Amino acid sequence: MTTDVLDVIRTKRDGGELSDEQIRFFVEGYTAGTIADEQAAALCMAILLRDMGPRELATWTQAMIDSGERLDLSGVGRPTVDKHSTGGVGDKVSLALVPLVAACGAAVPQLSGRGLGHTGGTLDKMEAIPGWRATLPAERIVEQLRDVGAVICAASESLCPADRKLYALRDVTATVEAIPLIASSIMSKKIAEGTEALVLDVKVGSGAFLPELDRARRLAETMVELGRAHGVRTVALITDMDTPLGRACGNALEVAEAVEVLDGGGPPDLVEVTLALATEMCRLAGLPTDGPDGPAAVLADGRARAVWDRMVAAQGGDPRAPLPEAPIVHEVRAPAGGHLRRLDARAVGVAVWRLGAGRSRKEDPVSPSAGAVCLRKPGDRVEEGEPLLLLHADDEGRLPGALAALEGAIEVGPEPPAPRPLVVERIG
Ligand code: URA
Repeated sequence: MTTDVLDVIRTKRDGGELSDEQIRFFVEGYTAGTIADEQAAALCMAILLRDMGPRELATWTQAMIDSGERLDLSGVGRPTVDKHSTGGVGDKVSLALVPLVAACGAAVPQLSGRGLGHTGGTLDKMEAIPGWRATLPAERIVEQLRDVGAVICAASESLCPADRKLYALRDVTATVEAIPLIASSIMSKKIAEGTEALVLDVKVGSGAFLPELDRARRLAETMVELGRAHGVRTVALITDMDTPLGRACGNALEVAEAVEVLDGGGPPDLVEVTLALATEMCRLAGLPTDGPDGPAAVLADGRARAVWDRMVAAQGGDPRAPLPEAPIVHEVRAPAGGHLRRLDARAVGVAVWRLGAGRSRKEDPVSPSAGAVCLRKPGDRVEEGEPLLLLHADDEGRLPGALAALEGAIEVGPEPPAPRPLVVERIG
């Protein structure tokens, strides 16, 4: 080896390009523990400030994949396709989408993480279902994909261990926002998971991880390129996250709403985004995108719901069991009559998090029942004093913080807001 860690940090600090050797030396050394956290933090900050070129990014991503095991899904007997969302408030799309696309004929290996900050994690939502288990050994994942076609479970510790360490470090060094680091973090996990195709839901708007459209677009383009370079057919939709998706935010509340969608109902915005993503996934998997076996028909006639029931039961859950309910429900009322012009996604996300539905540190527990229900959505007519939001809490002491988060988040005016498209752009 002709490089050393100071040389790697200096190269990037001074705006140079890292060689393939330098990248592999760093990723392998950091994963093995021979490179210290402070050195890795310095390099992440240099990358955030100086960016990475396409070759550096491809090598970095490959080194992250090579830091652990890859799942072999060649034996599942169906086309494999997955979806990843950059995270949003009320974003329970995966819960309905995974069984829906499985019911259309694909195998969907959704290996997920837990939520951190104001957007919830898919595993936290699923864990609101009595008995449901997030952890599955690799051979059970393959078996369940073969039998049911759908798995939502925790990614194993041996999948991209370099990303586990780097993501935790970035979280405490203000370097999460670097686009090459986000793209390589997300795509290394999805490529290592073994899926043949991938649809990315990149959120844009106040509740999104990257609120501005130009940055969301750059992230989407970078991930689509990375996927293709690694032989994974990849498409991205940029979707709106200025207001919560659907009405329910919070773990059990979101499960209940996803089940409404699987039963052929549910809020129209949630159904629209779910079907847009399902259509892209089916297209990439070579399955019908409309007609009697397309996603809309499969959702409407109960085939997707039947797969949900089997998927939940296969992981120990009872799909018909009552979900936990919060003892306290507090109404937030309209400050005036008129049209609801804004219900800010980030503020609702922070309120829900303060009610106990999310965590600040990865070891914190979450409340299954805390959350919020948006009774009205932007564009709706409202009367002064009518309830707009219901806050669900396990204890009264959580309410003041949640109400403070909502200050300035609700705007009512005489004119309706300009309509916003839900699917903003398609990349790929
Ligand atoms: N999600 C990830 O998995 N990684 C990131 O870097 C950001 C979001």
